[in-house]
Amino acid sequence: MRRSVRAVVASPLSRGAAPGTGTGTGPALTLNHHLRLRRRPAAWFHSTTATANTAGDRSEAAPSRPDVVTIADIEERRAKAGPLVAMTAAYSDSDMFKAPTTGKPKAKRWNHHLSSESTVREPCVLKQAAKHLKNPGLISLGGGLPCAEYFPFESLSMRVPNPPAFSEAATRTDGIDVRIGKYDVAEAAAEYDLSIALNYGQANGSAQLTRFVTEHTEMICNPPYADWRACLTVGSTAALEQALRMLCERERGDAVLTEEYSFSTALETAAPLGVKVFGVKMDKEGMLPGDLDAVLAGWDVRARGGARKPHVLYTVPSGQNPTGATQGKERRREIYEVARKHDLYIIEDEPYYFLQMEPYYGEGKTKMGKEKKEEEGVDGFLRGLIPSLLSMDVDGRVLRMDSFSKVVVPGSRLGWITASEQMVERFIRHAEVCNQGPSGFSQVILHKLLDETWGHEGYIRWLMYLRAEYTKRRDVILAACEAHLPREVVSWNPPAAGMFHWLKVDHTLHLDAGTRSILEIEEDIFDRCIAKGVLVGRGSWFRAEKDTDPTEMFFRATFAAATPENMTEAIRRFGLAIRESYRMG
Ligand SMILES: Cc1ncc(COP(=O)(O)O)c(C=O)c1O
Repeated sequence: MRRSVRAVVASPLSRGAAPGTGTGTGPALTLNHHLRLRRRPAAWFHSTTATANTAGDRSEAAPSRPDVVTIADIEERRAKAGPLVAMTAAYSDSDMFKAPTTGKPKAKRWNHHLSSESTVREPCVLKQAAKHLKNPGLISLGGGLPCAEYFPFESLSMRVPNPPAFSEAATRTDGIDVRIGKYDVAEAAAEYDLSIALNYGQANGSAQLTRFVTEHTEMICNPPYADWRACLTVGSTAALEQALRMLCERERGDAVLTEEYSFSTALETAAPLGVKVFGVKMDKEGMLPGDLDAVLAGWDVRARGGARKPHVLYTVPSGQNPTGATQGKERRREIYEVARKHDLYIIEDEPYYFLQMEPYYGEGKTKMGKEKKEEEGVDGFLRGLIPSLLSMDVDGRVLRMDSFSKVVVPGSRLGWITASEQMVERFIRHAEVCNQGPSGFSQVILHKLLDETWGHEGYIRWLMYLRAEYTKRRDVILAACEAHLPREVVSWNPPAAGMFHWLKVDHTLHLDAGTRSILEIEEDIFDRCIAKGVLVGRGSWFRAEKDTDPTEMFFRATFAAATPENMTEAIRRFGLAIRESYRMG
């Protein structure tokens, strides 16, 4: 049985209600007006509205998913709430767009984990003043917002894929032409326009896109505590920097735990903040909960160079960068339990979450039979996703970072975080004085694409398309590895998500193993790769603890961008470089 839904309050921005209440007390506007604003093509739009056919895969699956929020639920809620009216610099809060969280506990408080820098942050007075802009009849002389009359953009237009024909070729010929006008809102032609998007806004992002990511998060993660919030970011790189500054401080000797091989930019973010990073051992499912527990239980401040016992865990559960490892459901549960035991606050970085692939069965093949069939359809796809850490977060101890970089475009510099109200509020206070939230161009373009043109179902179908594309690419690189790499020295696990293939090269079999270090052998192979015209990542670039000696040797290859032919040729060259370095006949 699908859970019952109450209409979210129509934006108080237009109604004078107190913001942030999410109480569902706003009067519902007519469904007709709401639908008039939506320009989604009808042909593929078969099961997303409350009034359309709901006898599809979601309703079949509903009995086994009583806690699941469906696309139909969201459409129904939106219809009851009426159109969103959020004008220039409007204040909004993701709570306005959530279903009631009755019965869920509140998140724990994390004052003891906050840095003093974060604790002392005060709200930005100018952003706060913008709350009054919603008052009827108010003439503003108070802010520094320029007049839209002087914005040299009358309209923007773009051609985007028409679901389910997502390919570049289909988009070129049959894509949907979307136009964004300057005053579409005043003309009742849309809920968001250039005059609003290109002016200053609130640091947590526009109400329009916040609504979409909030609903999306509710469908995908449905956090099990009441006071969760979502807030737009300028991408996960910046969000991590903000999160680390919120949680860690050099003077306290704070340290972060992460996978023993970790995203190099994350390591480079922590280093200048004076935050030490320590690695947790991994297997093909990523971080080992037993090692995480052991590291924490046996923490020795002196042996760790003065770093106090870590209270922050940074992890990339799906398609981890650089190893491609994906934590299964049980692994995630175990990691979460260790975090509870040691009071760790978790930063869950999930740019590759939706690139979870079909299993690989060797020789370039992915099993497409029964398994694939069962997973077909939006609901099957969603059901097949490994639950996120956020979805099991009963304490509110997870700050999840989502990003549009890997699933829409990296140049949007747009993502969002989800965490407890307390943590999101602190995060916003920082955003107000560093980036003031994401670019209006990005927000309005993504809103038009994701919300107004595709809707939730179209976006999920896009993610399904990407998943299939990446699966094909992954299969090409694996087939090339099987064909061209010397198996006696190179080994790997087929990636189950993401963009990365992690290749272990057995340094002990190198003829110079007794006289040269692992780093020297790694460098030798890398240089030979460059000479042969292939760039791969050196495993040592990603070591969490670079000041210790490596004991193994790895290379990272990405299957995200090269053509199948080039990918195969690149792996052939990599194989040649290894054979040459290993002097293998
Ligand atoms: C694990 C991980 N986190 C974050 C990012 C960057 O995300 P964004 O573009 O949103 O800053 C990347 C990109 O490579 C990544 O691999």
